[in-house]
Amino acid sequence: MVAVDQGTTGTTVCVLDQSAHVVGRAQTEVTVTYPRPGWVEQDPEQLWGGVVATVSAALRAAGRAPADIAAVGITNQRETTVVWDRRTGRPVAPAIVWQDRRTSGACERLAAAGHGPEVAERTGLVLDPYFSGTKIAWLLADDPELARRAGRGELAFGTVDTWLIWRLTGGRTHVTDVTNASRTLLLDLADATWSAPMAELLGVPMELLAEVRPSSEVYAETDPASFLGVSVPVAAAVGDQQAALFAQACFAQGQAKNTYGTGSFVLLNTGPTPPPPREDGALLRTAAFQLAGEPVHYALEGAVLATGSAVQWLRDGLGVVGSAAETAQLAGSLSGNDGVYFVPALAGLGAPHWDPRARGTLVGLTRGTGRAHLARAVLESIAYRTRDIVEAMTAAGTPVTELRADGGAAANPWLMQFQADVLGIPVDVPDNLETTALGSGYLAGLATGVFPDRAALAGLRRTAARYEPALAPATRDSLYADWLRALDRSRDWAQD
Ligand code: G3P
Repeated sequence: MVAVDQGTTGTTVCVLDQSAHVVGRAQTEVTVTYPRPGWVEQDPEQLWGGVVATVSAALRAAGRAPADIAAVGITNQRETTVVWDRRTGRPVAPAIVWQDRRTSGACERLAAAGHGPEVAERTGLVLDPYFSGTKIAWLLADDPELARRAGRGELAFGTVDTWLIWRLTGGRTHVTDVTNASRTLLLDLADATWSAPMAELLGVPMELLAEVRPSSEVYAETDPASFLGVSVPVAAAVGDQQAALFAQACFAQGQAKNTYGTGSFVLLNTGPTPPPPREDGALLRTAAFQLAGEPVHYALEGAVLATGSAVQWLRDGLGVVGSAAETAQLAGSLSGNDGVYFVPALAGLGAPHWDPRARGTLVGLTRGTGRAHLARAVLESIAYRTRDIVEAMTAAGTPVTELRADGGAAANPWLMQFQADVLGIPVDVPDNLETTALGSGYLAGLATGVFPDRAALAGLRRTAARYEPALAPATRDSLYADWLRALDRSRDWAQD
């Protein structure tokens, strides 16, 4: 089984054997460009080329040949928007990445016109530039010729799953799965079909849209001329956060996970009916997964748009640390935060605040502030943002009693202990942190009968570390109260 995880900063491929053990792995980086403040772009051709190269490298590492592949499963950074020419297969513009804020104004205009409640009711989402719908509309508005061609059915839109499957199958298959579709502002969440009223509201011609399918199903065979000379089934597509929920075996209602990647995403399984919309709109309602022939399972999601990217900024932007791992040692060198707080609103604020104009903010500096304080403030902020989400879940009547953690920063013991301390609940970390890739491999294996069922997959999860809360409730709450003051300072900052 080849499990592809096309993420925001890199592509990871894991080769799984029949017992779902990882027998080969490879990773390549992805170039992200920031052409203007708030803009974030990628080259769709590089995403595709990187996937093929990384699959080859992972197969080599596993000592397997392309012909050994039983199936390919895809998981991907969600919401990132690609539009291409159906005839040539060439992208018509750079991919607009999920973190891109260029459609803030469009979202504000739609909200001011009173469309927020209808959008939330139909799609489960909020009017924020995070999602694909306004990004597609921006591309078409930017170039009237593209809009005309889109209306004539000459162009295709896809989130990254759709783009990769198009290329894998030599341009024969235009599909998406329900989890990715549920991130576009264009899906009617309750019946998992495209919503004509939403397409009309956003100005997106429905001719652009792919067929919506379950997350685990054979969609098509790869085209040998495009993919390593072999024709093998493409058998799963799933948003990366939903893939992690699946690999963390959060199959039962009430189970929750947090994946610490570029951003952090808490998903709580809410079962086979969509959670009811809430007036405050703080949390997203989203599709969690759908197996072939089964109903859609749903989740409540709290999306924090920048966490790992804040650590990356410490390392690459400021040079404050040489490696992400160094943050743990620096944070642990202090006995407290000395009142220094960082708000990681580097791409605005996501759930539950939804403020695209918020910006990164550092408060409480004195002459004694050093790089350890900065490292600690960034790590603490990741934990506080997670508490923001967990509090909103509790307010929505779905308290979280244990958090399963994964992603790169789950390997940071200081952060995981602080996370348990700030939440006041246990944080459980599995042995394999690459849950996103694993999830797509599991779903592809279920579709092709290589893995028997969910119960067998749940049995594979092993706890590697469990962090119990150790902070007195009064201390926890006073730290969090100061965090909320810092958060306030970051709000509504950007002017355009
Ligand atoms: O919604 C965005 C999310 O899917 C990106 O995940 O792992 O690329 O940070 P990641």
